[in-house]
Amino acid sequence: MQYSKKILIALFCIHLSVFASCEQKNTPSPVEPDTVSLKEASPFPFGAALSISKMKNLEIYRTTVTTEFSSLTPENAMKMANLAPSKKDQYTWDDADYLVDFAQKNNIRIHGHCFVWHNSLPSWVNNFVGTKEDWKAMLKDYITTVVSRYKGKVASWDVVNEALLDDGTPRQTIWLTKIGWEYIELAFRTAHEADPNAVLFYNDYGQEYSKVKLAAINDTVKNLISRGVPIHGIGLQMHTNINQSVDNIVNAINQTAATGLKIHISELDFALNSSKNPNYTVNDTDLATQKSRYRSIVAAMCSIPASQRWGITTWGVGDDDSWLKTNPDFPLLFDSNYKQKSCYYGVQEAFSILKN
Ligand code: XIL
Repeated sequence: MQYSKKILIALFCIHLSVFASCEQKNTPSPVEPDTVSLKEASPFPFGAALSISKMKNLEIYRTTVTTEFSSLTPENAMKMANLAPSKKDQYTWDDADYLVDFAQKNNIRIHGHCFVWHNSLPSWVNNFVGTKEDWKAMLKDYITTVVSRYKGKVASWDVVNEALLDDGTPRQTIWLTKIGWEYIELAFRTAHEADPNAVLFYNDYGQEYSKVKLAAINDTVKNLISRGVPIHGIGLQMHTNINQSVDNIVNAINQTAATGLKIHISELDFALNSSKNPNYTVNDTDLATQKSRYRSIVAAMCSIPASQRWGITTWGVGDDDSWLKTNPDFPLLFDSNYKQKSCYYGVQEAFSILKN
C-alpha cells in the first residue's frame, strides 16, 4: 500500500515535469521590459533607419540606437539630394560622415541607402543636359565617389531603388529615359568596382501585395545575375500595415529567399492607420494586431537559411520619427518617448520561441 502510494506520487511528479517542459516549449516566455536588447536577442542584424539630426541632438534617441540596434541605415543622409544637393561634383559629407564614424566607434553595421532612385534627385540632375554617354558618366562618377569614400566602412548598399512598378513593368524614371534599362547594370557594376567587398542590393516595395511585382523583381534580378551583374541581395522595404495578411508577407519573403540571395527587410513599418483617417486614435485591438504582425515577420525571417538573413531594419526608431507620423500613425517598435511598445515584445517573443 505504502509502496504503491510512493509510485503514484512519483508518476504524478514525472507527469508534472513533462507538462511543465512542454509548456516551456509551446508558450512564448513572457518578455519583460528589462529583457535583453533586440541586437542581443536577434540571430541576425536588427537595425533602424536614422535621422542624423536626432542622433546629434537627442540623447535618448542615441542611447536607444546603441542599446538596441546592430545595423543602421541613414533614412535620408545618403540620398543624392543630400550628398550632392546643389552642384555636380560638390558634395556635402557632414551627416553621412557623422553616421559612419558613429557606427564604427560603436561597432554597428551601416547599410547605405541609396544610389539610383526616381526621388530625392537634386535639381542639377533634373536639369542635366548631355548625351546618353554623358548621363552614364555622371551616374558612374557619382556612385564611384560615394562608394570609394566609404569603402570598407559601409557594409552594403541599396544600389537601385524602386525601378519597377506594381504591374511589374519598368518605372519611367529620368535614368530610364536618359540611359535606358542598362542603367541598372551600370550602377551595380560601378558600385562593385569601387568596393568589391560591399554587398549590393536591389531594393523595392510591394512584394507583399503584388504577386506580379514580386515575380518581376525576382526575375529581373536573376536575369541580371545570369549575365554576370554583381547583385548580392534583394531588399523588401515592407512598408506595410496591420491589415496585410501574414500569408502574403511570408510568401513575399519565401519567394524572394528562393532566389538564394541575401534578404533584407529593409524599411519595415506596420501602419495602424493605413486609410489615413485624420481622426484615427490608437487602440488596444490595433496594437495587439501590430504585435502579432511584428512577431510573424520576425519568425518568417528566422525560418529562411541563416546565410541569407541580411537583417531586418525598421524605418525609424520611435513613432514620432516615422515618415507616417502625421497621418497620424504609430508604426514602429518604440513610442514617442522611446519606451518599448507591445510590438517590441512581439519581436522578442519570436526570438524566444526560436530559442526554445
Ligand atoms: C522617405 C523618408 O522616410 C522621408 O523622410 C523622406 O522625406 C522621403 O523618403 N522608400 C524609400 C525610402 O526607399 O528612402 C523612403 O524614405 C520611403 C520609401
